[in-house]
Amino acid sequence: TTITFQIHDGSEQPIDAETGIPLMEAAVENDVPGIDGDCGGMAACATCHVYVDEAWRQKLGERTPAERAMLDNSFDVKENSRLACQIPVTEELDGLRVEVAPS
Ligand code: FES
Repeated sequence: TTITFQIHDGSEQPIDAETGIPLMEAAVENDVPGIDGDCGGMAACATCHVYVDEAWRQKLGERTPAERAMLDNSFDVKENSRLACQIPVTEELDGLRVEVAPS
């Protein structure tokens, strides 16, 4: 599943994400700068905060309750903010584009 991250310097990093794992883990495995996953995917650190491309927001569904609680206490949160650890990679996400939020 190919997912493209726009990183802080404005460049784009496409990764080949393994299906079935959280997007945060796929990003960490592929050394995407700015995605740290400090809490190990518990929706408790927001170091995996991304902005989802508008065209993809619906497909990803709703934020999880833990994710919502975390984002309520995070910085630079936008309508299209998601925590990448709460997004399971599926084949349907092929072509997804996200932007890494400022840390
Ligand atoms: Fe900590 Fe996603 S890895 S909130």
